[in-house]
Amino acid sequence: MTDSGKTGGKGGKGAGSGARALKVRVKTARKRSNSSTRWLQRQLNDPYVHAAKREGYRSRAAFKLIEMDDKYRFLKPGGRVVDLGCAPGGWCQVAVARVKAETGGAGADGRHGRVIGLDYLEMDPVPGATILQLDFLTEGADDRVKELLAGEADVVLSDMAAPTTGHKQTDHMRIMSLCDIAAHFAIEVLAPGGTFLAKVLRGGTENELLAMLKHHFQTVRHVKPKASRADSAEMYVLAQGFKGRPESIVEEGE
Ligand SMILES: C[S@@+](CC[C@H](N)C(=O)[O-])C[C@H]1O[C@@H](n2cnc3c(N)ncnc32)[C@H](O)[C@@H]1O
Repeated sequence: MTDSGKTGGKGGKGAGSGARALKVRVKTARKRSNSSTRWLQRQLNDPYVHAAKREGYRSRAAFKLIEMDDKYRFLKPGGRVVDLGCAPGGWCQVAVARVKAETGGAGADGRHGRVIGLDYLEMDPVPGATILQLDFLTEGADDRVKELLAGEADVVLSDMAAPTTGHKQTDHMRIMSLCDIAAHFAIEVLAPGGTFLAKVLRGGTENELLAMLKHHFQTVRHVKPKASRADSAEMYVLAQGFKGRPESIVEEGE
């Protein structure tokens, strides 16, 4: 685990330091199914769950973003961030702390950081972020985000995941199609040099999508942060150094 500061800032404790070796056993109550007993036991023994509570994060997922950004440095002061699938808001908290708070709001070029989060679930507001309650798969959802952005973004994040059905192939297809849609959106809105980070499943990004990302970004890698459960198929595709859109596409959008 890498460092985290006060909610999302750099430098701080995180789940790795000072985390107790936890081992809580949960008895299966009469009304509780085996799977919810397992879930509860996992929560109670998860150092990231405890660290999230201690450090004021809405989700343990916050530590995944902290860890990836500490290593690959894409959340910069003054940065404009879109966070797709943002509920309950852990990634938004980290993004706000890193693009806004550390500079009092402005980057080296005087630009002010912005965070726009989107989720179809209702969630509490995240101070410093603009939240849209919207299904990204509905027509026009991308345009709503573009309207709010009123320009380019430096980072497009997607932690979107549909509820699992238990049917492996269906779940895989659903998550990969969310990633695909987020990637196409990123290519439409990112500024040159920008970053796209999205959740995928083990086995990595589908060949076609991977080829597209490699065409548009200088580096593309798969990352499995320590905060992502080892027994989960989840991983992330991180594409950095957006090469920019061809002139004609930029003109069309203007
Ligand atoms: C793993 S959670 C995100 C956790 C978040 N990164 C955090 O740190 O709190 C995945 C989210 O994706 C959202 N999601 C899935 N499909 C979506 C869609 N089509 N449009 C908007 N949000 C979606 C879910 O509602 C869920 O809240």
